[in-house]
Amino acid sequence: MTLQSFGTDLNIAVFGAGGGIGGAFVRALADDPSVAQVHAISRDGQAGGGTRSHACDPLDSDAIAATVATITADAPLHLAIIAIGILHGDGIAPEKTWKHIEVDAMRRVLEVNTIAPALIARHVLPALAKNRKTTLAALGARVGSITDNRLGGWVSYRASKAALAMVIRTLSIELARTNPHALFIGLHPGTVDTGLSEPFQQGVPDGKLFTGEHAVAQMLDTIDARTSTDSGTVFAYDGQEISA
Ligand SMILES: NC(=O)c1ccc[n+]([C@@H]2O[C@H](COP(=O)([O-])OP(=O)(O)OC[C@H]3O[C@@H](n4cnc5c(N)ncnc54)[C@H](OP(=O)(O)O)[C@@H]3O)[C@@H](O)[C@H]2O)c1
Repeated sequence: MTLQSFGTDLNIAVFGAGGGIGGAFVRALADDPSVAQVHAISRDGQAGGGTRSHACDPLDSDAIAATVATITADAPLHLAIIAIGILHGDGIAPEKTWKHIEVDAMRRVLEVNTIAPALIARHVLPALAKNRKTTLAALGARVGSITDNRLGGWVSYRASKAALAMVIRTLSIELARTNPHALFIGLHPGTVDTGLSEPFQQGVPDGKLFTGEHAVAQMLDTIDARTSTDSGTVFAYDGQEISA
């Protein structure tokens, strides 16, 4: 696909480029003729497929500032994607009941899913180009919707994504004052076949487990269709707004 609404010679950054969805964003954008540079940013700096790879710890504000300075040395950013997130891992599993709430696990989930995107936004938003459409998009999740929560469970992940939606809304208001053509939005990718969803894919209806490539194509269409009045909102892969 080719982005239509951003112009040409685009300078693009993907944070979390080592992940299933982040890697698919890098590959899709590197193939887009309107894109000049795709910066693939990951913790180990090994994420390939972009035109340039960078190592950056997304919880180190100085490291993010240095990375943003490097990737904007020749041109401002036009689009940046934050595809960082954690649901399970070392000592972390989505809680089935309040009995499973643990300090270290909940803190880690909030750090990676909420604080890291907020820190990245702190440094990326002022580096977006002026006087043309630009966008910072962070991967959220439908389970972060408070009004849509009828099942309970997964309290750390839900809380981290609900808080991310508040970060997006809050910073979008400040952004509109300084750069009215710039958007900060959230994106729910659907259920995507990656390491993050792998233990939880049973019961996903037929046709609803997306490949990274399919999810990213849909999300790029959704990003392309947004206008400045959409800033501060979380959208699903199909362009539907997700209520807070
Ligand atoms: N897959 C789904 O079904 C699904 C559904 C809803 C929402 N999402 C959201 O989509 C985003 C991408 O998920 P994914 O499915 O692509 O997952 P993934 O393949 O596990 O990738 C997630 C990436 O997040 C970064 N990350 C993970 N743990 C980290 C840590 N402890 N500290 C710093 N960074 C860490 C890593 O990036 P680097 O390797 O580049 O450092 C990792 O590759 C997440 O925000 C997730 O919540 C996914």
